[in-house]
Amino acid sequence: MSLKFKISLLVFGLLVLTIGSFASVLIWNEKKALYENQKKQQMEMLGGLEEVCRAALIIHQDLLLTNYLKRLDDSAQVVEAMCLDHTGKIIGHTNTAEIDTIVPGFDKPVTKAPEIIFPDQSTLEARSCILIGGQFVGTARILFSQSQIQAHLDKNMSAARKRIFHLSLPILLLGLAAAFIITSLFIRPVNTLMNGARTIAAGKLDQKIPIKTHDEIGVLAKEFNLMADKLSELDQLKQDFVSSVTHDLKSPLSTISISLNLLKNEIDKIATQGADPAKMHDYVLQSGESAQKLSHLIFAMLDVAHIESGLKLNLKSINLEELADKIVRSFRIIAQQKNITLDLVVNSRLSLISVDEGKMERAISNLVSNAIKYTSQGSVIVEVEEKNGMQKLSVTDSGQGIPPESLDQLFSKFYRVPDYNKKKKAEGTGLGLAIVKGIVEAHNGSVHVESEIGKGSVFSITIPL
Ligand SMILES: Nc1ncnc2c1ncn2[C@@H]1O[C@H](COP(=O)(O)OP(=O)(O)OP(=O)(O)O)[C@@H](O)[C@H]1O
Ligand SMILES: [Mg+2]
Repeated sequence: MSLKFKISLLVFGLLVLTIGSFASVLIWNEKKALYENQKKQQMEMLGGLEEVCRAALIIHQDLLLTNYLKRLDDSAQVVEAMCLDHTGKIIGHTNTAEIDTIVPGFDKPVTKAPEIIFPDQSTLEARSCILIGGQFVGTARILFSQSQIQAHLDKNMSAARKRIFHLSLPILLLGLAAAFIITSLFIRPVNTLMNGARTIAAGKLDQKIPIKTHDEIGVLAKEFNLMADKLSELDQLKQDFVSSVTHDLKSPLSTISISLNLLKNEIDKIATQGADPAKMHDYVLQSGESAQKLSHLIFAMLDVAHIESGLKLNLKSINLEELADKIVRSFRIIAQQKNITLDLVVNSRLSLISVDEGKMERAISNLVSNAIKYTSQGSVIVEVEEKNGMQKLSVTDSGQGIPPESLDQLFSKFYRVPDYNKKKKAEGTGLGLAIVKGIVEAHNGSVHVESEIGKGSVFSITIPL
């Protein structure tokens, strides 16, 4: 069952309920008005009879009484009407044969005010005592047929019902049309959203859901569009990853393969023309370098995979100064080869800190290696200090610096500052800083970078004690 059908059904149900309640109230009011009107008419008839009865009793105006009784007799609801004197004798009756008959119990006042009573199930009686100067002179009585009254009421009620039905039907139809239009208007953005989601699911991530409203559906559409953007970014990242990894795996492998082939040719020449040992040395060297690049990439990818699946830390209390010193010493020869000074500066006494020594060594080494790699002259300084329950290690270089627009993405996987590295011929995987961030965050620490093009960069890691 579609959402449109369900909502239409709900709106229609509510409409029927509202119109039904409204019609019931109308019918109930109509019924009440009919009953009151009926009673009013009966009392008016009794009032009229009382008047003519009084005239007949005082001044013997019998003609008026006779005419009035005749008119009452014409009413289908009146069974009989009569005027009695103070002895209970009938002086006027709708049935003239009853005149002069004594009705027992009416030789005294039967009621103080005009009233309607129900003597039996089939009759309704309206009666009133006639007083002159406070003295009882007679009684006026009209007996109505209950079944005739009911028939009259039923007839009027059925007419009222018909009227209300004829009024409700167009309202219901109008409401139905309105429900359909409202539902369609409401459903239209949902359908747009659904089609948009389908398009996104089909992989067309550049498509946008064109809903600009500020309601919940608009917010949902915005979220979908953001999700599509994110997916598109991830897709791009995946493609970059595949092409970068493919390239980084392929080129050292083909270098190894070519070098080994050339080496084989050279070995083949040993017996015949005499081989060139310098060439053989170069081929072995090239193979070795390429194998090293391959292993660097594979180890970096393994590190990233470990970080993403949740690093397991082997915590140990160590002295960060000692670890930094060990790393600085291991990089000193490489720095000297590039004519860069590499120094360790300790700014405060450090207490022991609980870290995974191997992983922390990897993170700090990545920073020092970058600093040396991206610096062509000057210095690299590693500083350690302890402040406010934190230990901070910073690596400052006087290198090429990083353009501001790249700073945000620097710690993303496979990100390398575009063109810049190519010009400077600095090779790498773009995974080093992502590994640093992963390791430091696994220690509840944080990484930070500040840089200025041409002046150098400062990378720092802060770890809570
Ligand atoms: N100290 C630095 N000075 C200037 N640029 C830097 C510095 N450190 C990192 N970068 C820039 O950030 C990029 C990402 O660094 P990252 O260490 O993640 O990868 P990489 O050094 O290119 O590769 P790998 O670390 O695998 O050798 C580098 O390619 C480089 O452009
Ligand atoms: Mg690096």
